[in-house]
Amino acid sequence: MARLTSTDRGTRSDPDSFAGGYFRNAVYRHWDPHEVDVAGDREALLDHEDDFSGGEFDMLRLGVARFGGGEEAVTEDLLPLALALEDTDARMFLTTQLYEEAKHTRFFDRYWTEVLEPVAAELDLEPTDPTDERYLNDDYVALFEEVEAAMAALLDDQSPEALARAYSHYHVVAESVLAQTAYYSLQSAFSDTGDDAVITRPREEMPTLSGLVTGIARIRSDEGRHVGFGMREVRRLVQAEGVDEAVVQGTLTGLMPHVAGIFTDIEGPVDHGAIVAYAREKLSRRLDIITDADEAVPPVEELVAIDGADPGPAD
Ligand SMILES: [Fe+2]
Ligand SMILES: [Fe+2]
Repeated sequence: MARLTSTDRGTRSDPDSFAGGYFRNAVYRHWDPHEVDVAGDREALLDHEDDFSGGEFDMLRLGVARFGGGEEAVTEDLLPLALALEDTDARMFLTTQLYEEAKHTRFFDRYWTEVLEPVAAELDLEPTDPTDERYLNDDYVALFEEVEAAMAALLDDQSPEALARAYSHYHVVAESVLAQTAYYSLQSAFSDTGDDAVITRPREEMPTLSGLVTGIARIRSDEGRHVGFGMREVRRLVQAEGVDEAVVQGTLTGLMPHVAGIFTDIEGPVDHGAIVAYAREKLSRRLDIITDADEAVPPVEELVAIDGADPGPAD
């Protein structure tokens, strides 16, 4: 209640503050996961039935199940941070992040029921659920258990070290390295403008999945904003609050083998070496920004700028 009776300031939120600007950006960039047109993806998969069926279709199911499941896990894992934040604008921003993680979950669930299930039925493939344990692997389970534990620890310990550990697990590794790498590889595989270095087959043999790629572009754009917020917080904790950078470095290097392990059993038409190299490059770039006083987190407008991520006109 002290918050409501404090009379030493004007409005409680400030759109010109760092977190206030992030909140505005999230509101401005709103998109609806139910509006992304995925019908064409069914046709594209059926048109490529001869080149892209059986095992490779299963790998697409694995990717959607694994990374959609990750979005669901991080939606829940974020809740303790809402209680640890004290600033009004930061809390307002966090509500947008929670909402967006839930939207990401919804997009992948929708993709499963509206694209992958009907295509599997049409191709006479075994129907599966995205929650089937065949889609997990040990590194995936270990990584998400560690993220959950680091976030849940905030319920009892809101020290700068505990916060730095939580942001390093969630915002830096799970969102910035794992999610961005996963979405980059899916975009590379299924967009006609994807990175050919990541696929191991000729582009013309791959279906172009415009609905998946559009949804992922919007998710990546949201993740750019989430990562920017977390990176700035870790940087502040290290540079201004006295947290030893070894706390961050140890978390990142400890989790990296799990990140790599999440990709190495994906036997689809993607090159593991190229994907893991992309993840490592992201990780070392993040570490530079956190630990080097001369570096800076780019402005939020730059972090969310991804081709295909601009919401269409609201009509
Ligand atoms: Fe997400
Ligand atoms: Fe996120």
